[in-house]
Amino acid sequence: MYASYKKLWPLERQNHPNFSNILLKIGIYRAICPASHLVITSFGKAISHDFTTTFTMKALEYASTHQVQFLSELTEFLRIPSISTQVEHKADMEQAVGWLCDKLLAAGFPHAAVMPTPGHAIVYAEWLPAGPEAPTVLIYGHYDVQPPDPLELWRTPPFEPALVGDNLYGRGTSDDKGQLYVHVKALQAFKETVGAPPVNVKCLFEGEEESGSTNLAPFIRQHKALLAADVAVISDSHILAKDQPAIVYGLRGLSYVEVEVTGPAGDLHSGSYGGAVHNPINALCAMIADLHDANGRVAIPGFYERVHELEPDERAELAKIPFNRQQWLREAGVRADWGEAEYTIIERTSARPSLDANGIWGGYIQPGAKTVLPSKAYAKISMRLVPDQQPAEITRLIQQHLQATAPPTISVEVRDLHGGDGAIVRRDSRAMQAAFRAYTAGFGAEPIFTRAGGSIPVVACFQKELGIETILMGFGLPDDNLHAPNEKIYLPNLYRGVETMIHFLQFLA
Ligand code: BES
Ligand code: MN
Ligand code: MN
Repeated sequence: MYASYKKLWPLERQNHPNFSNILLKIGIYRAICPASHLVITSFGKAISHDFTTTFTMKALEYASTHQVQFLSELTEFLRIPSISTQVEHKADMEQAVGWLCDKLLAAGFPHAAVMPTPGHAIVYAEWLPAGPEAPTVLIYGHYDVQPPDPLELWRTPPFEPALVGDNLYGRGTSDDKGQLYVHVKALQAFKETVGAPPVNVKCLFEGEEESGSTNLAPFIRQHKALLAADVAVISDSHILAKDQPAIVYGLRGLSYVEVEVTGPAGDLHSGSYGGAVHNPINALCAMIADLHDANGRVAIPGFYERVHELEPDERAELAKIPFNRQQWLREAGVRADWGEAEYTIIERTSARPSLDANGIWGGYIQPGAKTVLPSKAYAKISMRLVPDQQPAEITRLIQQHLQATAPPTISVEVRDLHGGDGAIVRRDSRAMQAAFRAYTAGFGAEPIFTRAGGSIPVVACFQKELGIETILMGFGLPDDNLHAPNEKIYLPNLYRGVETMIHFLQFLA
């Protein structure tokens, strides 16, 4: 399996003119860069004693002198193609989970275990050195990744991490292996210097996030006592810019369906029947086109029923987030933005719901022409939801709507693929304050509160099942190419991430 990825990249591909002199494989990079060079990539200002302790100083120093080790271990992790959705990667999933469990033990966790589920296993680890009075932090992350397709658009092989300048390229670098590994290293820094972290820690790393977290909620419900904590922390989102940290306080939910439209019982000759038989592809395209009105609003009846208007003060706050329209257009690679004109781009992509076709297929799609009037047409449709919208209810609404608007000449089936709840987290907790101060110390700039357009359904699950809030402390950047070719992470911010987490745990203690 893995060999087939390699085959696609003969060596000369890596000497592509746009890429070659700066593309350095990890091994080479390590050989030519002295460790001291890597150290300066973190926030360079001297850390003064008035906001940190000797313990923190020691752990920070360990982190900054062990960046090369962090990078080489992360590279090992990234080389395992842990694609949860593809059955042929089952062995890779097992390898990844075992690798991670070993690293947690090496980082100092006295207990770490691979816990099976009906799907991919969960790694659970705990280290409770601070006693029952001290806070307990539950760290969540996911070791599975998205499929790398389309492979031909990657400039370096997805599972052979490559450093280009300060960016580390590869599937999972940002989502989420790189960000997850920040926590392992922050904890190890305490272990190697002062013996243990200043708070109690539990880790919950799952392997099914990118395929719908089917077994996670049941696992959490079955292990409530084991997972009991005061606060959860997740690093699986992005900040605003290299030097502008952000704390995400809102995530969108998700409802995802697959539509199957059937026209004639079998494929027909488009000459003999075209004009008198309704083509299911034509019909499906018309139905999808009708899912939005002319103003970019979703045209499914009831879709906005639970969507609260944004409060004026939240809109005012969101409006303060630094945003460069031209840069946004460039990054998205589009000529103009689209959507509800009365909302800003930031609002539309994080605090308003949306609907998108993710794929559409049917009929003849090989090279050349084939005059067929196909029997079937398919589409995958995802809807991003604000926290008050219920994924199950929205799925029901789109099912009813597509059935109701289907012309009598075809039949429609709408299958529920998966969904997930959105969430808003409290911003007035002690842990949130600790996170704010930690980012400030780690990045040299105060974080800005933002809402993210993506979904991390476990946040709502933690609220509901464990009664705890989550602090979303991401270290990625908006242009990390998540789920796309050439996923990357800006490496200096992973190192700053380790420092930020060391500060966070200390501030929390
Ligand atoms: N890390 C992402 C979620 C994310 C993306 C948060 C960008 C903040 C900013 C996560 O791995 C993911 O991809 N989630 C899925 C949802 C899931 C139910 C498949 C998503 O958002 O599509
Ligand atoms: Mn993720
Ligand atoms: Mn993802």
